[in-house]
Amino acid sequence: MIYSSVDNPGLVKVLQFLQTHNTEYLSGQDLSDVLRISRVAVWKYIKKIQELGYTVESKKKRGYKLTANSDALLPWEIKPGLRTKFIGRQIYYYDSIDSTQNQALKLADNIENNGVMVVAARQTGGKGRLGRAWISPEGGIWLSIILHPKFDISITTLFPIASALALSKAVEKLFKVSPELKWPNDLTIKGKKLAGMLVDVSMESNKIESLVLGVGINFDVNVKYVEKSLRGNSNYYGVASLGEQNKKIKPVRLVQTFLVELEKIYELLSTKQTSKIISEWTKRSSTIGKTVEIQTNHEKIKGKAVKIDEEGALIVSENGRTDRIIAGDIIHLAK
Ligand code: BTN
Repeated sequence: MIYSSVDNPGLVKVLQFLQTHNTEYLSGQDLSDVLRISRVAVWKYIKKIQELGYTVESKKKRGYKLTANSDALLPWEIKPGLRTKFIGRQIYYYDSIDSTQNQALKLADNIENNGVMVVAARQTGGKGRLGRAWISPEGGIWLSIILHPKFDISITTLFPIASALALSKAVEKLFKVSPELKWPNDLTIKGKKLAGMLVDVSMESNKIESLVLGVGINFDVNVKYVEKSLRGNSNYYGVASLGEQNKKIKPVRLVQTFLVELEKIYELLSTKQTSKIISEWTKRSSTIGKTVEIQTNHEKIKGKAVKIDEEGALIVSENGRTDRIIAGDIIHLAK
């Protein structure tokens, strides 16, 4: 099922009425009279509302009462508290989809608005970096954002790194935990992967037409299930979930806070203020200063991770030789 931020006015009307009158039972007839929709429509909307994860109790002769809200990342839950100018102002929610990234890429050519977001409760064919699968069960935050940046192509490689920084700041604000940033795009907690970023760029005559940022956050996933599905993969290093940190923070709040941080980062990049991003990323990085081994497309490089440059490339040096690495799989060997 798909819900967008502009459709479903009837459902939202019924839901908001239940939310503002959640101390009493409301009869189907009253709802129908007040909201000017048929009783059959009221009943259908209530069923949909329940399917979306809200708890609506129904009692014979008394009616309906909303007793618990949904944790789903529904457009009408995200938008009211969203303090952004353009990112996430238009949202498409799917309860299940192959990949929000694929869907966003399909939409990207025909959407001129900057910041449209596609979000799903679960993905059946989630995509990770370097062509890998991304395990996306219920409980995680799986979203993709369509952007039409004006910044230079050279900055595209810094963008997912900067986005990881934005997510890290959002997590720090809400949870009493500071994730570490592992080059290039991972967030980790106690050395295990909490989140990852994926970027797909479409270019025309050396200009960025559209950029789709995919964000996967193990918000409150079944860690054992995800780890079992990934074990044996070359880049597997364990899975962390925010649910282990604090069950009270709702996923909607993390998404709202992240989008605000992402918009700030986007604006810094658009005005070429990369040095602030690089220094904030470096402060949180678990990679810089370590001896690392990186598998690139064509070789394995070992050395000390010295810094990232303006384009997000990792500078690694050993015995007087310096390498600049744009993409690859990294293993941290030692301090
Ligand atoms: C990584 O390999 O670390 C990047 C993972 C990115 C996963 C996200 S989940 C939402 C979006 N849709 C996808 O299919 N992938 C990205």
